[in-house]
Amino acid sequence: MNCLHSWPEPIVRVQSLSESGIKKLPHRYIKPPSQRPHHQTRVNSSSSSSQHDDDHDHGSDDTINIPVISLEDVFSEDKALREATMAAISSACREWGFFQVVNHGVRPELMKQARATWREFFGQPAEEKQRYANSPTTYEGYGSRLGVEKGATLDWSDYFFLHYMPPALRNPDKWPSLPSSCRNVIEEYGKEVVSLSGRLMKVLSVNLGLEEDHLLNAFGGENNIGACLRVNFYPKCPQPDLTLGLSSHSDPGGMTLLLPDENVAGLQVRKDNSWITVKPVPNAFIVNLADQIQVLSNATYKSVEHRVIVNSEKDRVSLAFFYNPKSDIIIEPIKQLLTETRPALYTAMTFDEYRLFIRIKGPCGKSQVESLKSALES
Ligand code: OGA
Ligand code: NI
Repeated sequence: MNCLHSWPEPIVRVQSLSESGIKKLPHRYIKPPSQRPHHQTRVNSSSSSSQHDDDHDHGSDDTINIPVISLEDVFSEDKALREATMAAISSACREWGFFQVVNHGVRPELMKQARATWREFFGQPAEEKQRYANSPTTYEGYGSRLGVEKGATLDWSDYFFLHYMPPALRNPDKWPSLPSSCRNVIEEYGKEVVSLSGRLMKVLSVNLGLEEDHLLNAFGGENNIGACLRVNFYPKCPQPDLTLGLSSHSDPGGMTLLLPDENVAGLQVRKDNSWITVKPVPNAFIVNLADQIQVLSNATYKSVEHRVIVNSEKDRVSLAFFYNPKSDIIIEPIKQLLTETRPALYTAMTFDEYRLFIRIKGPCGKSQVESLKSALES
């Protein structure tokens, strides 16, 4: 893959642009009007002459939030309590594909430490971060773009990407040595988040009517799953209405556990035709189902488009932990979930093959999983 050897243009750190005090957004970050945060879909109504009637606001809706679910009782001895939690997760998966979990077993102290450590990392001088500058071959390290298309419009964010699982890909030498707590925090955080993800995979399996280990096995089993961390840094932006911190996409892997910034909102989830701004609750993880779960479940569960908006007042840090299938295992709709009236909707593919798309094209809504639809469904 020649095009993945190097970036097509010199890399500019968004943080350094932000800190330079520019008042105008450089053109590379200006999104076309239809992708901007406040774009409103215009519905053409032929009968009405009133301008106002033509404006249907499909912009952001500030009154609703994604479901919040306590996991306290998910493995309770008490059947009724257990089933109520399972049912809440089931409907969140079907109706939203996005929910927050609390009482999830990851220590709040560790969550706090993880945020603080990574804030400190991004707060360091440019030279210190530059030691970890990444390339599109593996994306590991300090990066500022997703995709290698020359001339693409860029997102207003920097990130650090690393592999946690499988053990063969885990290389702490590629993790920041400073702040000195960083490598330890990654190890501990990874352990607890993998464990929480494993519990959620069991819940999803049972809710789909499968054996509780089915999804984990489909991902290659606990020693083979992939797990990566992307820490996103969204600097203050001089003209936040013209750009996005992260363009609309669905996550390519299995499931994502996002630790959002505790003080600054930014994540938006697409619900029908509106963008819902997620309001994080204290000590919660935001869980979202990703493309491989959509394929395995034959679209009983769908990955959901999301994006990140930025602002001019405060920077924002988020930790996205991606729980993925083993990279060379074939992912296809699970046989037990197929019926005569609902045959396989997607063609089989390894996650490695699948992931190339976003690594080349960058975030493009749900275009990839849609393109996997087999000829059966036109
Ligand atoms: C991601 C992502 C959301 C956020 O990293 O894939 O969607 O709030 N992040 O940073
Ligand atoms: Ni995402």
